[in-house]
Amino acid sequence: MSLTFSIDSLHSDAFDPFAAYLADHVADNGRDGMPLFQPLARAESRFDGERARTFRDALDVPMSEPGWRRAWVARHLADGRIIGHIDLRARAEAHTTHRCILGMGVDRARRGTGVGAALLAHARDWATSQTALDWIDLQVLSSNDPAIRLYQRSGFIDTGHLVDLFRIEGRSMGFRSMALRLVRDGH
Ligand SMILES: CC(C)(COP(=O)(O)OP(=O)(O)OC[C@H]1O[C@@H](n2cnc3c(N)ncnc32)[C@H](O)[C@@H]1OP(=O)(O)O)[C@@H](O)C(=O)NCCC(=O)NCCS
Repeated sequence: MSLTFSIDSLHSDAFDPFAAYLADHVADNGRDGMPLFQPLARAESRFDGERARTFRDALDVPMSEPGWRRAWVARHLADGRIIGHIDLRARAEAHTTHRCILGMGVDRARRGTGVGAALLAHARDWATSQTALDWIDLQVLSSNDPAIRLYQRSGFIDTGHLVDLFRIEGRSMGFRSMALRLVRDGH
């Protein structure tokens, strides 16, 4: 089957269409009774202002410095529309430069077609090419079964589970931590 999308690096000077895509994606969080995929209340489920600026500015932070982030977008080949994204960012704690944190999402109309798996493989390959990195970490709401299945299929293992971490608008939710060890030739 031929691919209907490409995966490209996201650059800070082409950020506005991405910000519009992500704002639309994040607005789904808990909408009309849909499950939450981020630990945010409905009114907080936005991607704009300071949150968007922080994301964009981190794309230009060198990998050797704290606060870096790199992101990739999946684009529909026919019209260039963004249909998914993935990003890796530095951990906030000191002495953790060998690890990074993953975030991702796929447009609601394109889920279940392999976009998520392709984005994950792309980010994993990039991280593997960065010799400073040995691990990709992530956290996922315990109720987010589609995401957990994708991460497990892609080789992530469970590293912890905090039940009842969040109570958001009357709902109790746990947070699962998962990690992928990057494998390079020879070790
Ligand atoms: C989690 C998420 C990123 C997965 O992305 P996706 O593109 O749907 O992932 P994939 O298509 O690779 O895999 C999803 C399912 O489709 C199936 N699939 C993949 N390619 C397929 C194909 N060509 N034909 C049929 N099914 C396919 C997979 O087997 C998988 O099935 P399963 O969930 O029953 O195990 C997406 O659901 C999403 O954006 N959710 C909301 C945001 C979110 O949860 N982000 C993560 C926060 S931690």
